[in-house]
Amino acid sequence: MTAQHDQTQILDQTPAGISRASTILRRGGLVAIPTETVYGLGGDARNPAAVKAIFAAKGRPVHNPLIVHVADLDTATELARLDDTARTLAQHFWPGALTLVAPLRDGHGLAPAVTAGLDTVALRLPAHPAARALLAEFGGPVAAPSANPSGQISPTTAAHVMAGLSGRIAAVLDGGACPVGVESTIIGTDDTGRAVVLRAGGISPEMMAAVLGYLPVPTKSATITAPGQMASHYAPRASVRLNARTRDGQEVWIGFGPDCAGADFTLSENGDLAEAAAQLFAILHKADATGRPIAVAPVPEYGLGLAINDRLRRAAAPR
Ligand code: TXA
Ligand code: MG
Repeated sequence: MTAQHDQTQILDQTPAGISRASTILRRGGLVAIPTETVYGLGGDARNPAAVKAIFAAKGRPVHNPLIVHVADLDTATELARLDDTARTLAQHFWPGALTLVAPLRDGHGLAPAVTAGLDTVALRLPAHPAARALLAEFGGPVAAPSANPSGQISPTTAAHVMAGLSGRIAAVLDGGACPVGVESTIIGTDDTGRAVVLRAGGISPEMMAAVLGYLPVPTKSATITAPGQMASHYAPRASVRLNARTRDGQEVWIGFGPDCAGADFTLSENGDLAEAAAQLFAILHKADATGRPIAVAPVPEYGLGLAINDRLRRAAAPR
């Protein structure tokens, strides 16, 4: 059931706005929440009706589990069993753009639909001050997938959220533009306890290698089918051509680095991957609004380039 809201309220990241957002969550309503990665569509993770409403508002397939956002490491360890690898990563990268998949504990209290019936849960402690303030005031776990209609481009501003979900959710907490700009890195562990990358994201494998002593690699397991792991995702309306060193015909050309003079948009003029990640979804939204086919310059396949290229490949995938 999708709650109909004639108007989706836009709340400021003031104590009053955060308090209002918390009240809405407590009553089972949905609030889009700013995080440092992208905006999340938040609901009380313990409330089955709220969780059901998240899937309905996004049009998300129910077999795809949600990320649960927590205020602190204690809450995370109450919900799931973090092994040594997960704990090490949490200590170094939380709060931040990292999601850990870990086995659920008995009595976790989460609505079953959050994990789509899996015996694991994806946990994240976000760094955005408004998200942290809201999680602290709400005092419970918040389920939040990216705040976009399923399959579409992720939102990095409150305006992007409104463009996709206005009228379908109670409120948006406006925390400005998301500074990281791509979703969190999702990490699981293999049967030897080593970290494996389930989704490339805002924390690069190189950053994790510095604390793990090895470079975590993409998982070989094909058992999890999830929106972020589906071939076509983050999809603009127009077609997307990758590794485009020039513009063809009517294309709107998105450049990267100094060799893209004449590009319509530039992810980063001096080839900075963090800047490119922060700009990626906002530029895709703008390029899509032109109604023209989209072409994107090559982006290097390391560091945050792994997450950027993952999103671009899915945006370009056949639908
Ligand atoms: O940065 C982010 O991660 C953002 C912000 C809002 O936190 N959230 C986000 O959520 O990207 P969403 O729903 O768009 O992506 C969640 C991903 C999906 O690919 C889902 O399959 C995966 O997390 N996931 C959730 N629970 C899982 C589990 N138990 N095992 C494996 N993957 C899981
Ligand atoms: Mg998403």
